[in-house]
Amino acid sequence: MSLERPADQDIVIVGATGDLARRKLLPALYNLHLANLLPEKGKIIGYARGASDDSKFRQLAAGAVREFSHTPLDEASWPAFAERLAFVTGSTEGFAGVRRRCEQAARLLYLSVPASAFEDTIRQIADAGLVDGARLIIEKPFGHDLASSRALAKTTSERFGEQQVFRIDHYLGKETVQNILVFRFGNSLYERVWHRDAIDHVQFTVAESIGVDSRGDFYEETGALRDILQNHVLQVLSLLTMEAPSSFKSEAVRDEKAKLFYAMRPLSCDDLVRGQYTAGAVEGRRVPGYREEEGVDPQSNVETFAAMRLHIDNWRWAGVPFYLRTGKRMARRTTEVAVIFRESPVTYFHGTGIERLKPNMLNISIQPEERISFQFLAKVPGTEMRVEPVEMDFSYGESFKVQPAEAYERLLHDAMDGDHTLFARADSVDRAWEVVEPVLHEPTADCSHQVAPYPAGSWGPPQAAELIAPRLWHPR
Ligand code: BG6
Repeated sequence: MSLERPADQDIVIVGATGDLARRKLLPALYNLHLANLLPEKGKIIGYARGASDDSKFRQLAAGAVREFSHTPLDEASWPAFAERLAFVTGSTEGFAGVRRRCEQAARLLYLSVPASAFEDTIRQIADAGLVDGARLIIEKPFGHDLASSRALAKTTSERFGEQQVFRIDHYLGKETVQNILVFRFGNSLYERVWHRDAIDHVQFTVAESIGVDSRGDFYEETGALRDILQNHVLQVLSLLTMEAPSSFKSEAVRDEKAKLFYAMRPLSCDDLVRGQYTAGAVEGRRVPGYREEEGVDPQSNVETFAAMRLHIDNWRWAGVPFYLRTGKRMARRTTEVAVIFRESPVTYFHGTGIERLKPNMLNISIQPEERISFQFLAKVPGTEMRVEPVEMDFSYGESFKVQPAEAYERLLHDAMDGDHTLFARADSVDRAWEVVEPVLHEPTADCSHQVAPYPAGSWGPPQAAELIAPRLWHPR
């Protein structure tokens, strides 16, 4: 991310009164304003179907900043930001109204609308003559399956060039995720052991303690596979496993990611476990089961947990299983990668205090803890030869004494700057759908297993432990 103001442009948020705009986009834009990282000139135009006006939109933005920004609203700097804010009512003015309010030749259009409305919105934007000089941000999920993703790609590419399109996957904007590239390619030590000769298997967990809250309707159409695994998890995995790019220019990085996506083997039914939370206790609080949540069918079979075993068929990774899982209402919130190295081949320490020699493990903790730790064996001081695992630890907070920046700030700034590095390219998105497509439309004749229940506050259904056995999940 450059620390310069992007060139002058208007920013248009389509769906400006929705949850994402209030929780993430408006606070992120405000923080960019505070850091002098918004364009020198340009409006921020909110667009939504329901009637509103500039002054009400300013009030909504102030409320959003007060509630969700990591820096408090500063009365002195607010008026300059508020002055940029304008509102266009979709139901009466349409996108022609947006065109009238735009002041700059360039504009960033952010589609913060339900995925089912993407194609229609893109057509309306094009019909209103807003494509020239525009960049378009689309928020995941990019389609509902392979066919709908291809339909969306077609509608988009008939109107916008690929260089105009920015597919946001906010995990790629997380500081700790970007550090994966520095960790791998900036340190000569780890890259030497980053392959099948040294690594036994890799685990990646995205566990959330929250349930579906007020998003039951959305989740009923989505489920864990589409919401997290197909996008966030596979995108981060591609950074963990791709080859070194020839430079850090965006297309060089995205070319390597695409190659990796094409080496992922499409899933088969045996590679997947689906789960759904039942009532339980999370962090000491009783919570209802998924089927009791607002907006959820009491007979729903939608998965709130998914675990998969994935293979990457290339020279580096052939034979190394990747175990990936995500779930809502898990024991605690954590997003972390565990790289488990091969066991030591020697046997002369066996029976010296631990059952089996524990393999070395590298743990990359993405959130809420931001740290990297390496677990290795050490001799317990004393006259006996006893061996125990110990840890070397790096923590962002302790080493750098700063809070990592919000993903949306970084990504919005990069999109205004035209930098694609942290955005998903059409070919990778298409391949990610191909990878999950065989297990997406369950139940089918070949793949009929049902969702397995798990109590809220646990680490998922027992079938997930069977998927990884005889190995064990970290954490568990
Ligand atoms: C979103 C999903 O993409 O990511 C949500 O739609 C999920 O269901 C969220 O809760 C998690 O994001 P984060 O940054 O809190 O891990």
